[in-house]
Amino acid sequence: MKKIIIAIAAMSIAIGSFAAFASPKSDLNAMRAYFKKKFPKIKLDQYKDGIYALDKDRREAWKDWMDFAPPFTDALDMGKKLFNKKMKSGKTIGSCFKRRGIGIRQNFPYFDKNKGRVITLEAAINDCIKKNGDKPLKFGKGKLAAISAYMASTSKGKKINIKISNDPRSLAIYERGKRHFYSKRGQLNFACADCHISNAGMMVRGNLLGAVLGQTSHWPTWRRKWAAKAAAKGKSGPTSGLGTLHRRYTGCNKQVRAKPFKPQSDEYTALEYFHAYMSTGISVNGPGLRQ
Ligand code: HEC
Repeated sequence: MKKIIIAIAAMSIAIGSFAAFASPKSDLNAMRAYFKKKFPKIKLDQYKDGIYALDKDRREAWKDWMDFAPPFTDALDMGKKLFNKKMKSGKTIGSCFKRRGIGIRQNFPYFDKNKGRVITLEAAINDCIKKNGDKPLKFGKGKLAAISAYMASTSKGKKINIKISNDPRSLAIYERGKRHFYSKRGQLNFACADCHISNAGMMVRGNLLGAVLGQTSHWPTWRRKWAAKAAAKGKSGPTSGLGTLHRRYTGCNKQVRAKPFKPQSDEYTALEYFHAYMSTGISVNGPGLRQ
């Protein structure tokens, strides 16, 4: 196994042009141009389907699964109920958001000028819950992921629209996220970019590697792997296969035997800011369904 990974690493080509001091806009253009050349037949919006945009057979099987009985239906119902539930203050979660929280997923994460921080959707939901006198929820999965999934579902088809402002603090967070994406880490010494840019479309340990474009479009996602893990612990339930983007980051860090960060840590928030910006213009289609 290890040998295969190392061989792939050696095949990685230099992608240094992305890593130079460039504006977010030129990073985005370079990334799109790179993939246009690599996969000329794939249109930008198709990347929202991850590996299923790259492989026809996998796509057919995935579509059947999605059309037949998406396993996240109960989680979505639960998320909707929690979203509309009155908190201690008597208000609902929608009260904390623009347009009462409906159809806004595409604008997250965003840079908050007053706070000087990047705010992810999950952080905003938990801030709202705290502000209204209820107990904050655990990040990464469970009820919080269910609420986030419901909110994402109300944005289906809207184009991801992330703004990196000229505020140096916003740019610094973007740069931190970008650095994370391009830095080699873990015992296997792999960067996100090695797997999801240079080797996208190739196989590693029996898995087809997806492209970075569109990777943030469909969160939270129901994964067979997560559902199986919960079942093995006797914890099957409506949200058992559901996880947030930061939960997925944890898995990809562990895959290269690097120590993962915590969901909603500054590091993963910065990574999401860069990562989501690279999906600009691609449709929201969460919650997603993956292996
Ligand atoms: C050793 C290779 C490898 C590295 C390094 C790696 N990943 Fe992954 N990643 C995978 C594989 C395999 C999958 C599952 C197939 C797919 O969807 O691409 C995956 C899936 C993902 C997904 C889910 C895609 C979807 O459509 O649901 C995201 C998001 C992701 N990776 C982000 C990252 C980030 C961010 C990093 C760096 C912290 C990273 N990955 C590093 C191998 C890797």
